[in-house]
Amino acid sequence: MIHCRVAGLGRYVPEHILTNADLERMVETSDQWIIDRTGIEERHIAAPGETTSTLALAAARVALERAAIDAAELDLIIAATTTPDGLFPSVASLVQDGLGASRAGAFDVNAACMGFVSALATGTQFIGAGSARRILVIGAEVLSRIVNWQDRGTCVLFGDGAGALVLEAAEFGGPLGFVLRSDGARRDQLFASGLCGARDAEGNGPLDCYIQMDGPAIFKFAVQAMTEALRETLSGARLGPDEIDLLVPHQANLRIIQGVAKALGLRPEQAMVNIQKYGNTSSASIPMALCEAAEQGRLREGARVALCGFGGGLAWGAMLLEWSTSGIPPAASTSGGRMTASRAGG
Ligand code: UT7
Repeated sequence: MIHCRVAGLGRYVPEHILTNADLERMVETSDQWIIDRTGIEERHIAAPGETTSTLALAAARVALERAAIDAAELDLIIAATTTPDGLFPSVASLVQDGLGASRAGAFDVNAACMGFVSALATGTQFIGAGSARRILVIGAEVLSRIVNWQDRGTCVLFGDGAGALVLEAAEFGGPLGFVLRSDGARRDQLFASGLCGARDAEGNGPLDCYIQMDGPAIFKFAVQAMTEALRETLSGARLGPDEIDLLVPHQANLRIIQGVAKALGLRPEQAMVNIQKYGNTSSASIPMALCEAAEQGRLREGARVALCGFGGGLAWGAMLLEWSTSGIPPAASTSGGRMTASRAGG
């Protein structure tokens, strides 16, 4: 089995910040309501010239620089997004060109807010199979382009951003297991079904191009689905919730994160939360939070890091990683059959 390490992480958000006070001037809402029901205080919004690929490229450059890896050394680029620049080329191909990653293959993954976990699981499998040694995995979105800014039920939730990481084959670390699930029969609960290219002079598109959802139904589902996916992933690795060093959940709603943490009996410091600054950035939320956790020194060598997400599809899942940046096994945590046995799963 070939293991993998995260050699570098990067993130990027557009400069413009939209606060709850700004939203109070746009729709009938209040700062207090948004904070109480979601935990969100502000979000970043892409400028007219910015697209998902420009955000992705900025995050990717930081990740590569921190990994001290040249773009020409990349074998593959996988970008998770629901808001690509166009139907094709893929965002991954645009990033490949922007970086000058001359040897890399490139493709996008769309699993709505579950996109990054799906892309990362794919990347680890490429490395585990020996098909690639260095992979750039990105989550990037300009959700502001598919938000109906007149709908207070959705517009207060979403923001734009990008996160990226470089996966590299290593002697130690990588996935301890993952669970990917979908129930397409629940497609009407969260969707944006139209093609968003057609807009009038005011920038308004047809209604079906916007994100539409049944908020309370998704809320209930999210807590239950992510809790179950995490339990299943942990049990495959023969670990308990108390053995998670850091949970990095999709940042959709603070109360959803707290609901999952409570159901699993996690301590507050076990969960990474940054939703207050960025809102829900779909595919970008987990890599952005992971990157921020690394910057805060919360991802030590050998740490067990759990990711979980849910979103349109419906699609949901979880992943457990043994964190490795150096690729050198730490003395204390490589012994025992538990890790070896669980790596076969997923
Ligand atoms: O990545 C996945 C994307 N989707 C999600 O994660 C959505 C998950 N769901 C949620 O996060 C929550 O359901 C929301 C934040 C969307 C809504 O919170 P809620 O506590 O479920 O509120 P609700 O929809 O049950 O609405 C409660 C009240 C309603 O008024 P009435 O009927 O009680 O008079 C709404 O009309 O709050 C009203 N409301 C608002 N009020 C002020 C809904 N949106 C707003 C708003 N400002 N922005």
